[in-house]
Amino acid sequence: MSTRKGLILAGGTGSRLWPITLGLSKQLIPIYDKPMIYYPLSVLMLTGIREIGIITTPHDQAQFQSLLGDGSQWGVQITWLVQPKPDGLAQAYLIAEEFLDGGPSAMVLGDNIFFGHGLPELLASADAQSAGGTVFGYHVADPERYGVVGMDAEGRVTEIVEKPQVAPSNYAVTGLYFLDGSAPERAREIKPSPRGELEIVTLLESYLTEGALTVEQMGRGYAWLDTGTHGSLLDAGNFVRTLQSRQGMQTGCPEEIAYGAGWIDDAQLTALADRYAKTEYGAYLRGLMAA
Ligand code: G1P
Repeated sequence: MSTRKGLILAGGTGSRLWPITLGLSKQLIPIYDKPMIYYPLSVLMLTGIREIGIITTPHDQAQFQSLLGDGSQWGVQITWLVQPKPDGLAQAYLIAEEFLDGGPSAMVLGDNIFFGHGLPELLASADAQSAGGTVFGYHVADPERYGVVGMDAEGRVTEIVEKPQVAPSNYAVTGLYFLDGSAPERAREIKPSPRGELEIVTLLESYLTEGALTVEQMGRGYAWLDTGTHGSLLDAGNFVRTLQSRQGMQTGCPEEIAYGAGWIDDAQLTALADRYAKTEYGAYLRGLMAA
């Protein structure tokens, strides 16, 4: 069990996916057979985190609540938080300051999808780091679209830049941030960038300059999938479908993680499976008990 609290940032206008996201929050649209937010939520649950704050826009909150409720069906406790305006990712730490109550956190962006054989171990090692911060570098073809790490000749991280025109490396910083209890205090020091946002990379820089930031490589055996464009959204859905149909196992299944961790029992899982009786998902949940 982790001592961290989890955060999912699920605000934003989703403008790059309009018109899909004109009437529906981006993090609620499907990635194959599940709402997008199931995948980042599963990452926090896999870390062993049971207290989770979900940050949404004011107008989308009710829909997220009808999907996820208070989390008790999966043995977690969800606290609902609101971001009135999308003023940058680092703002999440100001919004969540009271919820975090001085403690460490793991924040995942609500549109980030991770898959990999060693994921539970990678998460556990970041979780075990009590001071400073841990983020993950992932090799991508198009680093200009992300926060990017610059490294010296020895491979030590020297800088993190947001959407650089000329990227210092191909290593993007994924949207998963394990930070210690000082994150809200540091976020308070940040001035808005030229585009008017409290940038997450500025917050990470504050750890980096103190030598308190670990950048773990998430190697080629992992999939970190993008959902930022119509094409990449479809690719992510196809990836999940390909994997699940081949393996006959789910990815991003909160029920499975909760059951595996012993947070819910057979009776609770049966009730969840019954609810989805008409779907393959329901049959899968039922099968977990026989396994
Ligand atoms: C945000 C962050 C960026 C990070 C990315 C990961 O960008 O600002 O540093 O690499 O998430 O998904 P956005 O996708 O909000 O443009």
